Amino acid sequence: MKQIFAKIVNLANLGNSIYRLTFEAPEIANTVAPGQFINIRISDDSYPLLRRPFSVYNKVGDKLQILFNAVGRGTAIISKRKEGDSLDIIGPLGNSFSLTGDFENTLLVGGGMGVASLPLLYSEIQVNKIPVTIFVGARNKESLILDYLQNVSCATDDGSDGYKGNVVSLVEQYLNKNDIIKPKIFACGPPPMLRAISKLADKYNILCEVSIESAMACGIGICQGCPVERIGTTNKYSLVCKDGPIFESNTINYVLHG
Ligand SMILES: Cc1cc2nc3c(=O)[nH]c(=O)nc-3n(C[C@H](O)[C@H](O)[C@H](O)COP(=O)(O)OP(=O)(O)OC[C@H]3O[C@@H](n4cnc5c(N)ncnc54)[C@H](O)[C@@H]3O)c2cc1C
Ligand code: FES
Repeated sequence: MKQIFAKIVNLANLGNSIYRLTFEAPEIANTVAPGQFINIRISDDSYPLLRRPFSVYNKVGDKLQILFNAVGRGTAIISKRKEGDSLDIIGPLGNSFSLTGDFENTLLVGGGMGVASLPLLYSEIQVNKIPVTIFVGARNKESLILDYLQNVSCATDDGSDGYKGNVVSLVEQYLNKNDIIKPKIFACGPPPMLRAISKLADKYNILCEVSIESAMACGIGICQGCPVERIGTTNKYSLVCKDGPIFESNTINYVLHG
């Protein structure tokens, strides 16, 4: 983990309130693993005080990218940064998706901004030559971000692109129609989606890792501010920032987290 001051090289509005931020960060780009995140200081002022966490979306040489939705005060401020500005960043943080274990096929599932966790994982899966199928869900066609991914099956709530309905139903339809040998699911998205994909994985007895989001302060396991309740594990609680954000789906208590 490093703290760096990274120069912004590009900030692109991809439509709606979604932005892709590209910055120079060789120190993090050289070590980051799929599923890890960074913690960005919002401004030089004391407000907002807390850093904001974002998944590492992609790396392009020495440059890193994040994909973010401007939902509140902090992301609104970041969306107004300019090329050449410097960002105070800590990273890479958290654990990563695991490509070891008893599986032969992979299913990547992204919902909303959860798609930001997929490109790095997709690259690693390709390097390892593991069969992969990708599913991305969004509210509508305009909110679908499919850059860096190939052969994606899409679902939209309003049916404006791909399957009409939620992405987990699309995954279930796919499993019912295809005989997939020993799949493993990797999922990132809003809490209801993660709860649904976890249920689906249980139903079909499929390995599944989910990336959990939670409000964070320190991002490095000091403040104890990001607990997630676990099931069937030695410790009743884990920290999303330090022990996660990736967890085996059947170890999360979705009554509280979803
Ligand atoms: C490990 C991790 C990885 C993350 N990766 C990404 C990512 O790649 N891209 C991304 O866009 N976000 C990501 N997030 C969420 C991101 O951190 C928050 O969107 C951000 O902190 C919001 O900051 P803010 O100051 O703009 O909003 P705040 O002022 O903190 O909140 C403003 C309002 O927005 C709501 N809000 C906050 N977060 C979200 C959200 N995610 N979705 C909808 N409403 C929200 C709040 O409830 C509140 O009502 C990630 C979070 C974690 C924990
Ligand atoms: S955010 Fe401080 S312990 Fe996780």
